Amino acid sequence: MSFSASIITLFPELFPGPLGTSVIGRGMADGLWSLSTTQLRDFATDRHRTVDDTPSGGGAGMVLKPDILARAIDAVSPEGDVRPRLLMSPRGVPLRQARVRELAAGPGAVIVCGRFEGIDQRVIEARGLEEVSIGDYVLAGGEVAAMVLLEAVVRLIPGVLGAAESHADESFENGLLEYPQFTRPQVFEGREIPAVLTSGDHGKVEKWRRAESETLTRTRRPDLLK
Ligand code: ADE
Repeated sequence: MSFSASIITLFPELFPGPLGTSVIGRGMADGLWSLSTTQLRDFATDRHRTVDDTPSGGGAGMVLKPDILARAIDAVSPEGDVRPRLLMSPRGVPLRQARVRELAAGPGAVIVCGRFEGIDQRVIEARGLEEVSIGDYVLAGGEVAAMVLLEAVVRLIPGVLGAAESHADESFENGLLEYPQFTRPQVFEGREIPAVLTSGDHGKVEKWRRAESETLTRTRRPDLLK
């Protein structure tokens, strides 16, 4: 069983994009995960292949029609498909590493990419869509957000990163931001590597890194310490 991602989008040509490169792309080539895209417009029924309509109650922008998205979801994810159904949206629950880990341990995800003022609320409820945001800013559509989510998830699938690599020290894994890293040369533009890191005293290195992590987290992300 490998992780299976199905994307519903008006812009399938954007995929795999960055997901086809580097360790993520190699993981796909190695069969550790797979990606399929579905053109939402293929589920429109009128001559102009319309997918949106004006908002009920008035206002700017257009709203994605529920019947068309429901047909696309049913085609991609028929009854019995146990994968979570995600909707990329700035209104969603903020994506965190904990949810990323859960997704990576699961069978995959069906991901709907929005590109409109909104999506009819009834299809969100009727198909059990979990709204996910990648941050407090508004993108032009959900495609890049879906790529961000998948890149975060796929790198945690066993075998995608080398067995030697551990996630234990990464930012967020222990509730803290990661400590600063250094490598040679010993002096760069007059700046030295902190002496403790070249002392050979592993206990001291551990303590220094922990303290740096805590200071960074306190100044940049006090919310993580609560
Ligand atoms: N679509 C538009 N903005 C988004 C965001 N911040 N997160 C997820 N999907 C989005």
